[in-house]
Amino acid sequence: MTNILVTGGTGPLGREVVARLIARNHRVRILTHHTSPAKSEGVVAAPGDLLTGAGLAAALDGMEIVMHLASDSHQALGTDVGGTRNLLAAAATSARPPHIIYISIVGVDRSSMPYYVAKNAAEALIAASGLPWSILRATQFHGFIASRLQSLGVDTQSEVAVPMGVRVQSIDVGEVAERLVALAELGPLSHIAVMGGPQALDLATMATTYLRVRRPGQAVQVHAEPSQSALFDAWRSGSILAPEHAFGAITWEEYLTTTTASAR
Ligand SMILES: NC(=O)c1ccc[n+]([C@@H]2O[C@H](COP(=O)([O-])OP(=O)(O)OC[C@H]3O[C@@H](n4cnc5c(N)ncnc54)[C@H](OP(=O)(O)O)[C@@H]3O)[C@@H](O)[C@H]2O)c1
Repeated sequence: MTNILVTGGTGPLGREVVARLIARNHRVRILTHHTSPAKSEGVVAAPGDLLTGAGLAAALDGMEIVMHLASDSHQALGTDVGGTRNLLAAAATSARPPHIIYISIVGVDRSSMPYYVAKNAAEALIAASGLPWSILRATQFHGFIASRLQSLGVDTQSEVAVPMGVRVQSIDVGEVAERLVALAELGPLSHIAVMGGPQALDLATMATTYLRVRRPGQAVQVHAEPSQSALFDAWRSGSILAPEHAFGAITWEEYLTTTTASAR
């Protein structure tokens, strides 16, 4: 049984990680800047804010591992870079410095998109911190891709325009959580591990599969169009793919099939 602080424990990945840590009898504390966080049974919430550093010393007290999952893509320089710096500074003063495990994204070292540059900078801070560390870079979560397609109208429109030439190797968030828990139990890697989903698919194919599973029998046109979005432009380069690390087993279609009932 290990004392583990999870930052971002209330997010989609954090909830999966926390559930698995509890199931494996670890003592889990989550850092949260919400006043009333939705948290699992058996989890202690530690109020704190990475951005300001408030509450970090108390949250870290007695922790052997920090699973650092918190992020804010809208203020990544503050939360992901400054917040990681604050977290590391507080952890460095612990009597027994904790193992820092950080979740990053495949391709952050090959993109000029500000969010990815910030994640890459946070990786560098951790690797240079002098604390025991492990980093896992994962590809996009299936649920994240579903939300991107939803913002393009897959749930509502009769014609859906999808950015042209974008391939994604999405992965099940539970499989990423399992790998993070395994890293916690293994001990510090001192290097960056990589994990991708089982297939690299173009977004138009993903949209077509989404419609077949989630809107069966409805005639919806999908067409690929050039797009100006910074995110999709970054993805189009192919730097977000990790074909040699296709360790995820749950496919996009399996994810859609198993989550369709709860999506309705
Ligand atoms: N989404 C993907 O496809 C993907 C792929 C690979 C890697 N990742 C990485 O996986 C991690 C988790 O992503 P996610 O999508 O599951 O979660 P998320 O929506 O990015 O949110 C993570 C959490 O960050 C916490 N947070 C934000 N600002 C904070 C602050 N100032 N102080 C303390 N906590 C703060 C929030 O917790 P509270 O509101 O409780 O404070 C929130 O629950 C991120 O680091 C992301 O970069 C994501």
